[in-house]
Amino acid sequence: MAEEYDLVILGAGTGGYVAAIRAAQYGLKVAIVEKDKLGGTCLHKGCIPSKALLRSAEVFATVKRADDFGVSTSGVSLDFSKVQKRKETIIKQLYQGVKQLMNKGKIDVFEGTGRILGPSIFSPTPGTVSVEMANGEENKMLIGQNVIIATGSSARTIAGLDVDGSQILTSEEALELESLPTSMIIVGGGVIGIEWASMLADFGVDVTVLEAGPQILPTEDIDITREATKLLKKKGVQIMTSAKIDVDSLEKSEEHVSITYEMNENKERIQADKLLLSVGRRANVKGIGLENTDIEVEDGSIVVNEFYQTKESHIYAIGDVIGGLQLAHVASHEGLIAVDHLARKKPTPIDYLSVPKCIYSHPEIASVGLTEEEAVEKGYKVKVGRFPFKGIGKALVFGETDGFVKLIANEENDDLLGIHMIGPHVTDMISEAAIAKVLDAAHWEVAQTIHPHPTLSEIIGEAALAVDGLAIHS
Ligand code: NAI
Repeated sequence: MAEEYDLVILGAGTGGYVAAIRAAQYGLKVAIVEKDKLGGTCLHKGCIPSKALLRSAEVFATVKRADDFGVSTSGVSLDFSKVQKRKETIIKQLYQGVKQLMNKGKIDVFEGTGRILGPSIFSPTPGTVSVEMANGEENKMLIGQNVIIATGSSARTIAGLDVDGSQILTSEEALELESLPTSMIIVGGGVIGIEWASMLADFGVDVTVLEAGPQILPTEDIDITREATKLLKKKGVQIMTSAKIDVDSLEKSEEHVSITYEMNENKERIQADKLLLSVGRRANVKGIGLENTDIEVEDGSIVVNEFYQTKESHIYAIGDVIGGLQLAHVASHEGLIAVDHLARKKPTPIDYLSVPKCIYSHPEIASVGLTEEEAVEKGYKVKVGRFPFKGIGKALVFGETDGFVKLIANEENDDLLGIHMIGPHVTDMISEAAIAKVLDAAHWEVAQTIHPHPTLSEIIGEAALAVDGLAIHS
């Protein structure tokens, strides 16, 4: 017997479960299908566990320099099993929270693999979803007036570098390490590679990043990338850019993995305990029945309009599965818009240039809007303000003075085009820049906003003043 719903959601990650809650708030009857665990990649294999480990690494690094703060310590050591236990406790707590939210919204949760069926005598609309239940129960059939596909993404791998879970890892396996390796090769210097490089270096692991492109963090502003490179090197991370790995040269023994890479026409061989692959993520479009629909897939991602409708107007797709900015907060916002649209609430489409992006390395990196290079490429005449954390009293108090804020304004009308930050707590401070972008603020309006003293956020006011050469503490 098929059960009927207003909305059936495939995937209960940050995109899917947030959409389910909003739909339930609107009084819709909602089913959500999840083949793994409620909370998805972000909660179980991504953002939350990695940030928990990063926080332990930060505490370890800070305690090691406690003397700088006049605090004497002795015998500082790391118990990695406790680090992992703490991470698990955090996940468990948040997992319970998501389960409770599903109960509260009276959302039917189906643990199993969902697949969209095409029109047939058994499934009259493409909104019919069959669920192969994880617990071995008979398959379920769900009929949704609307469907949201929120099946996320998986780590991209490289042919020949087969992930074996012990020596060749993606971030997913790395999160489950029972002990720390003494050395790690990281292939790919993007967001995941750099967060791991920072974390492992803070834990005392020897890290080498092999990045194919000319710089790490290729989507960040070049000044930020340069500063990040400098600061990562300062903490001992080796960074090799324009490094081309020779997959055929890979050798593994019980303890080590080694590989040759070419850089500046020289061949180098590198050996470490383990190798982490962080070369991007791929949308999960397979095995979900897209072939039974008219849904289009381009460059591996589902094609949608600004309200996240696919070519089948009652089937929406949100989050990593549609490509673009593969970020948890983007997925959940896209989910809210899709639900508003199917509930006829007239949502405002996302302006992707107002989406904050965060990297939780130490120091942190955060940005919103265009990089200077992108702004110039688009034909804007730009003026730039920059201010270092060294000039901020609270940063000195904190003992974290590395980094800066860079603000890019349009010379013609003073509109903010981009804000880029590297330094302490910038992932918490970027929301101010996001609000300024959403409200279409001018840089002088940001400068006019009174920032409390002493706070790290003063740096945003100073960077805004610096656009007109009027920063106070420089
Ligand atoms: P990415 O796309 O950020 O970076 C991949 C890097 O690997 C690029 O620099 C690329 O040039 C390099 N690369 C590709 N092939 C290579 C090869 N054969 N050899 C060496 N380098 C190679 O992908 P990443 O870091 O895997 O992250 C995946 C996604 O997850 C991203 O979209 C990211 O935004 C998201 N994410 C976001 C986080 C956050 O917001 N804090 C944290 C973790 C992931």
